[in-house]
Amino acid sequence: DWTPGNVIADQVAAIKAQIGSARVICALSGGVDSAVAAALVQQAVGDQLTCVHVDHGLMRAGEVEQIETDFVASTGVNLVIRDEKERFLTALAGVSDPETKRKIIGREFIRVFEDAQRDIVAEAGAHGEEVKFLVQGTLYPDVVESGGGEGAANIKSHHNVGGLPDDLDFELVEPLRTLFKDEVRAVGRELGVPEEIVSRQPFPGPGLGIRIVGEITAERLEILRRADAIAREELTKAGLDNEIWQCPVVLLADVRSVGVQGDGRTYGHPIVLRPVSSEDAMTADWTRLPYDVLSVISTRITNEVREVNRVVLDVTSKPPGTIEWE
Ligand code: XMP
Repeated sequence: DWTPGNVIADQVAAIKAQIGSARVICALSGGVDSAVAAALVQQAVGDQLTCVHVDHGLMRAGEVEQIETDFVASTGVNLVIRDEKERFLTALAGVSDPETKRKIIGREFIRVFEDAQRDIVAEAGAHGEEVKFLVQGTLYPDVVESGGGEGAANIKSHHNVGGLPDDLDFELVEPLRTLFKDEVRAVGRELGVPEEIVSRQPFPGPGLGIRIVGEITAERLEILRRADAIAREELTKAGLDNEIWQCPVVLLADVRSVGVQGDGRTYGHPIVLRPVSSEDAMTADWTRLPYDVLSVISTRITNEVREVNRVVLDVTSKPPGTIEWE
């Protein structure tokens, strides 16, 4: 019988058998998969698990707090947050090219995570403990895509994390490898993972960094974060979260146009709403959002975010447009 409770019982037993009394590390991105994988491992081996969240400063409003406060409160995991906002801003200064942004964010992320791993390994070592395992939120579709599949569960179980000293060789713990996304959500709910995390729509690893067209600065991130929070709040309030796959909110930071706001003329930036409907993100259609919802979002953003004086709607399907703008 497939029930979330049975999956949890089976996985907890399997994780205990695999890990024994060793220590284990997990990178928490804020997404569904890593959160549920971490919650399962926590259920199985408790304090032997240490989670790491790399705060690159490119998350949306409230997301780091959701991990830091709500996730920790509901699961009891040990969490290390690396505040690396300045590091990422410095590395990204002057960069507008989308691929270059992605490469820089990916590179810095790996460096920071490796630093965190080294620190955890060194601290455990000082207590005579061994850190041998790394949790990954790999799902069944990922396993199938990479040529694994049922009966081949041992193919990729060993994995050398690049950049670490040769003797630090982690074995992977992948408690979600038999599950589809909706099953992961059911298991997460059963484990008490906060609903905001369990039901989260897809969000790119490089975060808001690829939703600012132009250079990324602290001020631009703040403008986008405020506009995005308003759009998300109104879509949720209108009950549309299950109808849309995701709705990127994009700041055209290098574009300005003339407007009238309050007492005078302004020369502000446009915000693009990109609501899409999709089954798998490979193709997508633009979502026909109700005009009254679009109207409230537009009015609120231009009233509450001083730097924005236009809200525009992206009516392009994928292909030809990708879901993200960069
Ligand atoms: P595109 O823009 O290629 O996006 O149509 C397809 C889906 O992938 C997400 N996306 C990413 N997810 N890391 C991720 O984890 C990334 O670098 C990344 N880039 C795009 C995007 O949000 C959409 O759901």
